[in-house]
Amino acid sequence: MIARPVAPGGTHPQLMKVDLKEVLGQPGRLLSPGRWNKPQVQQVSLGERQVILKDWRTMAPWLRPLARHLARREARIYGLLQHLESVPRVLQTGDRVLVLEQVPGRRISRLRGHRAAAAAAQALEVIVARIHAAGVYHFDMRKRDNILVTDEGEVYLIDFTTSVAPRHYGPLGWLLRPVAALVDRYAVLKWKNALAPEVLSAGERRLLHILDRLRPWRKNR
Ligand SMILES: Nc1ncnc2c1ncn2[C@@H]1O[C@H](COP(=O)(O)OP(=O)(O)OP(=O)(O)O)[C@@H](O)[C@H]1O
Ligand SMILES: [Mg+2]
Repeated sequence: MIARPVAPGGTHPQLMKVDLKEVLGQPGRLLSPGRWNKPQVQQVSLGERQVILKDWRTMAPWLRPLARHLARREARIYGLLQHLESVPRVLQTGDRVLVLEQVPGRRISRLRGHRAAAAAAQALEVIVARIHAAGVYHFDMRKRDNILVTDEGEVYLIDFTTSVAPRHYGPLGWLLRPVAALVDRYAVLKWKNALAPEVLSAGERRLLHILDRLRPWRKNR
């Protein structure tokens, strides 16, 4: 089991480093093949320990500067969240690569109809409030692969590829914040509704209905 050092909010976390050369030298198990515009993701075994290698070097060579930017960007976002239990630890960073603690969880959607569903939906809401308090908006939580739940019912957020930290955008960030908050709120309401509709308040149900109607690409118009 990996020790999970957490740092008080706003301070730089104590990183549990792994040797990048060792990680890159191991064959990995493919989790996501990557494409010309997105990274490959692998699970790599370091002895008993499993880590996640997110590798933007597999992107098209002519996109190398973009690959570097995306890797740094995601590492920076993770860096803002290292004080939170519900986000994987960053174990190492390098040129267009990011090594993360592996979360021993499975996608949240498997909890549908399970008695732990309501607790997970409520835990997700708390986690989202915490990442917002840390100045990060996830933006891609509607995707079930990006929310993992362990057998003990702990909920984790992963994949901050499309996340934003409005503080990085200067005054524009102030405009971005409410929209970003609403996008994440919508995802939380969607999950609460899918997993345990009984936990939605009347106001939340109304908001969900309004947001559903606002989505021009929604199904069953
Ligand atoms: N820290 C982690 N712990 C456990 N599994 C992980 C972790 N990070 C990534 N994964 C697994 O790898 C998959 C792909 O990783 P991630 O979502 O970060 O990359 P991505 O480029 O956004 O890929 P995709 O577009 O397929 O979501 C995840 O859906 C998840 O199954
Ligand atoms: Mg993903």
